[in-house]
Amino acid sequence: MAKQSDSWGSRTGLILAMAGNAVGLGNFLRFPVQAVQNGGGSFIIPYLVCFILMGIPLLFTEWSIGRFGGKKGNHSTPYILDSMSKRNWWKYIGVFGIFTNIAVVAYYTYIESWTFIYVIHTVIGTFTQMTQAEVSEFFVQYVNLNGSDFGIPFLPVLVYILVLGINIYILSTGLGGIEKVAKIGMPLLILFGAVLAFKGWTMGTENASAAFPDANAWDGINFLWTPQYGSLLDPKVWLAAAGQIFFTLSVGMGSIQCYASYLKENEDIALNSLTSGFTNELVEIVLGSAIVIPIAAGFLGLDWIIENAGFGMAFQTMPYLFVQWGELFGMIAGICWFGLLFFAGITSSLAMGTPWMGFMQDEFGWGKVKGAVSFGILALIMGLPTILFYQYGYFDEYDYWAGTVSLVVFALLEMVLFTWVFGMDRGWAELNRGADIRIPIGYKWVMKYITPVLLLLVLLSALITPESNDWTAAFTSLMNGEGWALDPSSLISKLTHDDLKLLQLNDPQ
Ligand code: PHE
Ligand code: NA
Repeated sequence: MAKQSDSWGSRTGLILAMAGNAVGLGNFLRFPVQAVQNGGGSFIIPYLVCFILMGIPLLFTEWSIGRFGGKKGNHSTPYILDSMSKRNWWKYIGVFGIFTNIAVVAYYTYIESWTFIYVIHTVIGTFTQMTQAEVSEFFVQYVNLNGSDFGIPFLPVLVYILVLGINIYILSTGLGGIEKVAKIGMPLLILFGAVLAFKGWTMGTENASAAFPDANAWDGINFLWTPQYGSLLDPKVWLAAAGQIFFTLSVGMGSIQCYASYLKENEDIALNSLTSGFTNELVEIVLGSAIVIPIAAGFLGLDWIIENAGFGMAFQTMPYLFVQWGELFGMIAGICWFGLLFFAGITSSLAMGTPWMGFMQDEFGWGKVKGAVSFGILALIMGLPTILFYQYGYFDEYDYWAGTVSLVVFALLEMVLFTWVFGMDRGWAELNRGADIRIPIGYKWVMKYITPVLLLLVLLSALITPESNDWTAAFTSLMNGEGWALDPSSLISKLTHDDLKLLQLNDPQ
């Protein structure tokens, strides 16, 4: 007999858990960097278009697929996909939806562990007497970036295991625990974000210094939000935008399907999916762009940001800038910043743990403790090499395949399964069953034709990444009969995961 499966405690709990799944490090660390590296205002239009034409259709699809699977007692993509078609190979494709989560969570939790230790360093005042260079170097030392060949970063590994342990513990308490963390974490995250965003919006030029006399927080905000139309034809920007939408909405991974599989058969998915998707976008667009960029612009100027935009800003620069606000507010700002990153991170890493647990539960009857612990061990096995061999750049390859390529491939396949194999009419009915809103019928058409084609385009452009990512040059050369020079690394690797890969740390001095 099938075991009584877990289910969400309340609608609020479900939405907060789903929003917590989506809102993550991607919103605060990845989005601002992507936006800056792709020209600020030039990024924003492609980004929003990708949200509407790929993000929302994928959310609809994944929520529908998930609830459909749950009805049949399946909580992981291999068996869910299998139940949607007569062919028997879809279940192998569904394996993506488990494996990718473990691969990504392995390094995601590592970053989460930095945010954890940085809260503590902020509280004990580690950064208060440091120069900007020292704060930056502190991070480099911590992660052993320029460590000796046998240098094992013991402390980071320990903190990593500790944070992984916290995840395991929460996961072992089931959906109830995840819901509780989301109920506490999400409001706090928004509060912390609002405090920092308020500071970002109001600081203006007050922190300009002799070294950066023109520094103005508003330059950062204007740079991001003044639409530029020139880049609309640049595939590079579109790819970056698509990659960001994927990552930030958590689509193409299997975690949304898993969460949705614990919905009741007639529970709304149309409105719920939109609510959590829009919450993510609100947090990303409003809070994600109002913290690092304006604050750094307010101290160091926009030119500095454009030159130094990278993952390192959050850990190598922000702690120093906070200290400049004085002991008390500096500490509050630091706690808000790293605290919000921690909550954003943990509600997402928990989501990545559930597909594995759901699979082991459904197919082998594993309980939550066994599921959670085995998940932690797997994550550790995958994560340790990246940590220990950090300085060798092993990270890049790893993130490229796990965090980027796999998402797009899986998203494309599941979209085709849902709209063509399962069938758009059935799919539409599935999506609208129990719906609390009426989705414009045009979306049916978008989901069937537009989204799959766009996904295919994304994939194709990744395959043919031109040398130095210069599309204009590549097209010109093609026209002149000189062929298309491919870049050694594919485009997506350069664009959609640039800052996920931690080795791209700039030295922000
Ligand atoms: N969406 C999360 C973020 O923005 C990352 C994530 C991807 C979480 C996939 C779960 C699954 O950081
Ligand atoms: Na996100």
